[in-house]
Amino acid sequence: MKAIVLVGGEGTRLRPLTCQTPKAMVPVVNRPFLEHMVERLKKHAVDTIVLTLCYLPELIQKYFKDGARFGVKMVYIEEKVPLGTAGAVKNAECLFDEPFFVLNGDVLCDLDYGAMMRAHLACGAVATIALIPVEDVTQFGVVETAPEGRITRFVEKPKANEVGTNMVNAGTYILDPHVLRDMPRNKPVSFERQLFPGLLASGERLTGFPFTGYWIDIGKPDNYMELNYHLLIGARSPGKASSVAGAVVELGQGTSVDPGAIMDAPVVVGERCSIGAGVVIKGPTVIGNGCRIGPGARLDRVIVWNNVSIGKNARLEHCIVANNCLVNDNCCIGEGCVVGDDVKVTPSCVIQPGTKVWPGTLVT
Ligand code: GDD
Ligand code: MG
Repeated sequence: MKAIVLVGGEGTRLRPLTCQTPKAMVPVVNRPFLEHMVERLKKHAVDTIVLTLCYLPELIQKYFKDGARFGVKMVYIEEKVPLGTAGAVKNAECLFDEPFFVLNGDVLCDLDYGAMMRAHLACGAVATIALIPVEDVTQFGVVETAPEGRITRFVEKPKANEVGTNMVNAGTYILDPHVLRDMPRNKPVSFERQLFPGLLASGERLTGFPFTGYWIDIGKPDNYMELNYHLLIGARSPGKASSVAGAVVELGQGTSVDPGAIMDAPVVVGERCSIGAGVVIKGPTVIGNGCRIGPGARLDRVIVWNNVSIGKNARLEHCIVANNCLVNDNCCIGEGCVVGDDVKVTPSCVIQPGTKVWPGTLVT
């Protein structure tokens, strides 16, 4: 089976993490988000993955190359200007001659892709859209259906009282290639706001494929943190959130931990790190490669990317620190902070909860 993954967006809501890293490449438990997606697709018999690139394309291509290392064939299609979700797929039209998957490149879920394809082939719709129930529909695209599953209406980012269902577009479609045929080339077109409603208006059959289980869109820092935590504690389905059994402390090659440090699982530390005396790390916490955590520092539910240095007695709480940052001695970084790449925090500075620090900032 073939899938095309939309990874061209700028990830604005995830800034500053996406200022220098495409959303698909932000590390989730020390591996790019997209690698987790690819792994899942491969498990479900997807062997060819087309990536639609636009923002920072070379970072994605350099990592995945021809896909061999990940057991799939990777094909790249680049847009010079953003063509929107459907425009990006139109741009790759020549690669598809039978029903294929389209995936938003920022969603991880437990969808059974094989079952979805079987349902699509059986029902004769031109498009099948995976649907998931959510609490707050205002962030997503609501899809209303008739009792037998036929889609009747799309409402993208509705107001709370504007819709009669909590089922939203889960960011996975199966399309018959001919739905792309009449679209204009090289013009921005959105699936959600244009192509799908247009197909409905012209009487085409579109079907919903409801599913339950794990589903997350990492579009915002809170959700990104949540996904890391879920993978760390093995609580894959929200309903099973108490299954902390099997929580581990995992250390990468060349990482040294002072015997006086305390690690409260689940904690994952990458390669070539050093964890000093008296450090206390409370999980779920992820630390990337090449990091140094100075003596007496306390980290409580944090996500630290690569080559970060954290000074003596620093305090970090429920926050994210991106690549190449220097957090000096006695600093405090509060709950919900997102610190971009290459930030320097001078000694004893306090970064208030909820602050976003842009890449390259010197915090004094
Ligand atoms: N190639 C390319 N070109 N990709 C794009 C473009 C573009 O112009 N615009 C967006 N994308 C990619 C993004 O990188 C992302 O992976 C995906 O398309 C979806 O864009 P988002 O910006 O994340 O959309 P959203 O989360 O607000 O809403 C979408 O996803 C929801 C589910 O998570 C919609 O499809 C909603 O209907 C849906 O509920
Ligand atoms: Mg999204």
